[in-house]
Amino acid sequence: MSDVMIAVQHVFKSVTDSTGTLTILRDIDFSLNKGETAAIVGASGSGKSTLLSIVAGLDTPTSGTVLVDGVDLFVINEDQRAALRAQKVGFVFQSFQLLGNLNALENVMLPLELSGRRDARATATRMLHRVGLGERLGHYPKVLSGGEQQRVALA
Ligand SMILES: Nc1ncnc2c1ncn2[C@@H]1O[C@H](COP(=O)(O)OP(=O)(O)OP(=O)(O)O)[C@@H](O)[C@H]1O
Ligand SMILES: [Mg+2]
Repeated sequence: MSDVMIAVQHVFKSVTDSTGTLTILRDIDFSLNKGETAAIVGASGSGKSTLLSIVAGLDTPTSGTVLVDGVDLFVINEDQRAALRAQKVGFVFQSFQLLGNLNALENVMLPLELSGRRDARATATRMLHRVGLGERLGHYPKVLSGGEQQRVALA
């Protein structure tokens, strides 16, 4: 088994609209081993979110390859990518993407329930305590602060 968890190879991303073509990512190439931690740092608008969306299989590159745990994300189909995301990817969106009609506890329980976990409630409760939101389980996203919403997303 290889220790490489994420391999990004020659990734380009361009978008075209009526004003022309914008190249957001140009020949991005790196890999991360299991257990490694990395931060991607750059000016606002430099392409960090675009890169992370592609690495998570939420967006497609114009060209290039992304391997997650040895699987080429853009050779498998959308359903297979969704299954791989559910098993191997955690993603905190810049705008959190919590579900507004579910409270904090239900937001954290949902992916656990979808993956068939019978301990979803206990696990979600434990994770929310871990991020300091043990007193906010029943709160809906609209009454949580920005940082609290981000912690629900982390949980
Ligand atoms: N679908 C799109 N169509 C046109 N332009 C886009 C599209 N997606 C991203 N961009 C542009 O590409 C650039 C990179 O956007 P991205 O969201 O990746 O930046 P970022 O590094 O995450 O910035 P921030 O630090 O502000 O979150 C921005 O200038 C953005 O306007
Ligand atoms: Mg961003």
